[in-house]
Amino acid sequence: MRRVFLETYGCQMNVADSETMAGVLERAGMTLTDRPEDADAVILNTCAIREHAEQRVLGRLGDFARLKRLRPDLIVGVAGCMAQHLRARLLDQARVLDLVVGPDGYRRLPELLRRAAAGPVAEVRLDRDETYGDLEPRRASGVRAWITVQRGCDKFCTYCVVPYTRGRERSLPLADLIGQVRAAVAGGFREVVFLGQTVNSYHDGTHDFADLLRAADAVDGLARIRFTSPHPSDMGERVIAAIAGCDKVCPQVHLPLQSASDTVLRDMARSYTLAQYRDVVARLRAAVPGLALSTDIIVGFPGETEADFARTADYMREVRFDSAFLFKYSARPDTRAWRQAETVPEEEKGRRLERLIAQQHAISGAINDRLIGREVEVLVEGPARRGGGEGAAPGRGDGQLFGKSEHFKTVVFDDDGTKAGALRRVRVVGATPITLIGEAVAAPPPEPVLLRAGA
Ligand code: SAH
Ligand code: SF4
Ligand code: F3S
Repeated sequence: MRRVFLETYGCQMNVADSETMAGVLERAGMTLTDRPEDADAVILNTCAIREHAEQRVLGRLGDFARLKRLRPDLIVGVAGCMAQHLRARLLDQARVLDLVVGPDGYRRLPELLRRAAAGPVAEVRLDRDETYGDLEPRRASGVRAWITVQRGCDKFCTYCVVPYTRGRERSLPLADLIGQVRAAVAGGFREVVFLGQTVNSYHDGTHDFADLLRAADAVDGLARIRFTSPHPSDMGERVIAAIAGCDKVCPQVHLPLQSASDTVLRDMARSYTLAQYRDVVARLRAAVPGLALSTDIIVGFPGETEADFARTADYMREVRFDSAFLFKYSARPDTRAWRQAETVPEEEKGRRLERLIAQQHAISGAINDRLIGREVEVLVEGPARRGGGEGAAPGRGDGQLFGKSEHFKTVVFDDDGTKAGALRRVRVVGATPITLIGEAVAAPPPEPVLLRAGA
């Protein structure tokens, strides 16, 4: 067992977990390969958040089944949330599988892979203490390091599978995390993103999330701090004061709303009302001038009436999110809402989704248009790519650089030789709902700068 192909689905937490797995495998003398054809083992790190996510993985397993027919000794493994969600059922369902390993089993991955060569293995125990805090991840190169500060979730929103796939909430010790931030900076990263399902409920027994932000803010050489996703109910004064008071914490918050109907919020067990959410937004906006705000919304939750939906659409026009991730409700086995009858037909969910997409597109476009003429600070990531995806430059691609503004908006501008990892002041000259087009405003620094411009 030497070469492993690892493919990741789902959220950033899964991407970070894959980096932990990569570190574990490499320390065991294994190497990662980019091509499944070259691998002795293939592992899919999977997501279970919506049915569509699971279907994509089952489709991909079909590819590996074909590969395994040519090479019967190939080990095929499924890791992550879908592995935990389906457990042994997955071994029966997808006969091609040799290994099923849940999010708390990665420490023993090399041994599990070796055992899987002798017969199917399932390691799906959840462990309330596992944080991987002592395991060095093998981070993908770039300017942004994703650091998991909290695992699991205790909120049990009625639609959500995460508390079942990732177990109870636990935080990593602050000192270990600051060690990870320092190591990331030493490795050339300029930005850290703290990850947790309800990241602002972080508490290591002594320190809370505000302490973590302040401690990270004091790390020399770090340019930017972000975090995702905070929960509205955990957005207390201490956290807001830290976001506002730390220079390196970017003026950008992703604050999932899900619905603006109090009935739906109650049935989702979100633990806040619209009035409380509104209040959190008002306090954040008062504390952080120019704050960029984004959200997650679910349409078609069981019981969502046309009037409930209208409340969500109305509130989104009122609050004007910079951007929003919009989802059709997908019933997940094991969750509480799974037992509720669905009341919104698929076509109606689609119609509601389309209406919100169109509305949000217009709002995002108007917000970005108002940035034209202003300057933003871009943390440069590299050459812009043409076509869809991250850093896509509308119309062109060649000869341009891309990066994120302090508000986490993608900015493209003509390549003036600025190196990846440098902060660059850019004047916005054009905008679409998802991208800003800019012009660099001053001579580029020869090397990545070590402080925020202007500091
Ligand atoms: N922990 C984060 C988000 C986790 S999942 C939080 O609470 O904010 C990311 C998003 O997926 C959620 O915010 C929600 O909008 C969406 N989601 C979760 N379960 C879903 C389901 N069963 N159907 C549709 N969307 C879902
Ligand atoms: Fe899921 Fe709710 Fe936890 Fe987010 S807070 S992970 S939506 S249960
Ligand atoms: Fe993330 Fe999907 Fe699991 S969103 S936590 S990988 S269910």
